[in-house]
Amino acid sequence: MAKTHEVVEKNIGLMSIFIIIIISFAGLAKVLPLFFQNETTQPVDGLKPHNALALEGRDIYIREGCHTCHSQMIRPFRAETERYGHYSVAGESVYEHPFLWGSKRTGPDLARVGKRYSDEWHLVHLINPRNVVPESNMPGYPWLVDNLLTGDNTGTKMKALRLVGVPYTDKDIAGAQQAVAGRSEMDALIYYLQNLGTVLAFKR
Ligand code: HEC
Repeated sequence: MAKTHEVVEKNIGLMSIFIIIIISFAGLAKVLPLFFQNETTQPVDGLKPHNALALEGRDIYIREGCHTCHSQMIRPFRAETERYGHYSVAGESVYEHPFLWGSKRTGPDLARVGKRYSDEWHLVHLINPRNVVPESNMPGYPWLVDNLLTGDNTGTKMKALRLVGVPYTDKDIAGAQQAVAGRSEMDALIYYLQNLGTVLAFKR
């Protein structure tokens, strides 16, 4: 036994392999239970999948790269909860594919920005942020007002999400195109933003 140990100690390649095996087990022990705990896999009460318009809004949010400057993850620290509201809980994002948690915060966290401002504020801000926040370095997105949604793919997107467990009904999917066709991308994005983090109605 002592001999075997010596072999491992004197052979850095072998030792690295064993270290990797040990760390992998430790990692699995931490990660695997999260896949089975209700706290991380069950939706919070009242959570609904994004409706057709919000889903399109979310895709525009991703396409325009909003997530490269904004996180959607309030950490459980006083400085964060005082500013943004209750910390984010896993059950709020069980229908999110992919997650938009992030950690890059050039701008503020948006996990609970829903209903914080009026639709008009968002419209003015998204066309040119400096119209409402003079020192802002966020880019403007004026073209979103003119781009209209056709809804051609909305139902298909919902079907894909249903495959990974988002509970869309046949009715949701059938009505998806009609729900978004003709609306502007700006409408969809603002609608999405106004819903962010509103399921848990904690005091701010
Ligand atoms: C280059 C980084 C950057 C990008 C990209 C960006 N933002 Fe911002 N955003 C900021 C900064 C900085 C602020 C704070 C100043 C302000 O309010 O304009 C901000 C503020 C905001 C606010 C107000 C948040 C609050 O609590 O006051 C919203 C809403 C917002 N951004 C949405 C968006 C959306 C939607 C997109 C994508 C279409 C986007 N941002 C893209 C940097 C960015």
